[in-house]
Amino acid sequence: MYRVFGVIAIVLTTFSTSCSGQTVLGVDAAATSISTSQFQCLLNNGYKLFVGRIGQISGPDTSGIQNIRNAQSAGVPYTHAFIFPSAQQNATVQVDNAIAALGSTYVKVLWLDVEKGDWGSNKTANEQFLIQLWHAAAKYLYINYDRVGIYTSVNNWNQIIGTNSVGDYFYQFPIWYVYANSNVDPCNGWLNFGGWLYGCLDEVVHKYAINVNICGTTVDLNAAAWVGWRTNNGTSV
Ligand SMILES: *[C@@H]1O[C@H](CO)[C@@H](O)[C@H](O)[C@H]1NC(C)=O
Ligand SMILES: *[C@@H]1O[C@H](CO)[C@@H](O)[C@H](O)[C@H]1NC(C)=O
Ligand SMILES: *[C@@H]1O[C@H](CO)[C@@H](O)[C@H](O)[C@H]1NC(C)=O
Repeated sequence: MYRVFGVIAIVLTTFSTSCSGQTVLGVDAAATSISTSQFQCLLNNGYKLFVGRIGQISGPDTSGIQNIRNAQSAGVPYTHAFIFPSAQQNATVQVDNAIAALGSTYVKVLWLDVEKGDWGSNKTANEQFLIQLWHAAAKYLYINYDRVGIYTSVNNWNQIIGTNSVGDYFYQFPIWYVYANSNVDPCNGWLNFGGWLYGCLDEVVHKYAINVNICGTTVDLNAAAWVGWRTNNGTSV
């Protein structure tokens, strides 16, 4: 009897994984202008998510914001944004300026980029800066996006933030991690780190390839288990 239930459970799980809530493939770009026709080409190649940079160390990224608008014009169904911040500058001002430049454009998720760039060596100070950035971003929830998440890699997180308590603060938020293993499974290559100690959770995006030439442009490739529509185990939400 138990064995029969087990077989049914496996069949149902397989069915829901293959018929609803598939992995969504996406691209992201920084310092690259992508036209509406290039986004149509990307969409034709199966990339339904675009993540554009809206803020960088020097301030708002107007060409990244134009990319998001071009993606939306092309019919790309899921658009996200990211901010590549300077930890040497005021967190609130950077977020406010990027969102002011984004204007009335709505994205599903804003990602805060924790990656080598303009961070200092003091991990406690970095942690405090990231929390300030987070609070600044939270002001625009449901105005410019539905969720705020963290973009990083295991190495970047450990070097910039380390194993401080901040991981525990952020673990429940969406995570976009870099692991360039060319595997389109959102969870393939996942390693626990920081406060994300509970395996590959529902709200995960995996960057699996870097600097790929496609549709006349150069982008990074991503596999999303989540862009705001389902849990990772195939259950629709
Ligand atoms: C950042 O700027 C805001 C707005 O001008 C200000 O209220 C805040 O105190 C500043 N934060 C820091 C750490 O300087
Ligand atoms: C690191 O930053 C924290 C928070 O700003 C500060 O209290 C501490 O003194 C700094 N440590 C060093 C070694 O500079
Ligand atoms: C799938 O995940 C959701 C949300 O975490 C959970 O409620 C549900 O029980 C899970 N379903 C299976 C079959 O594991």
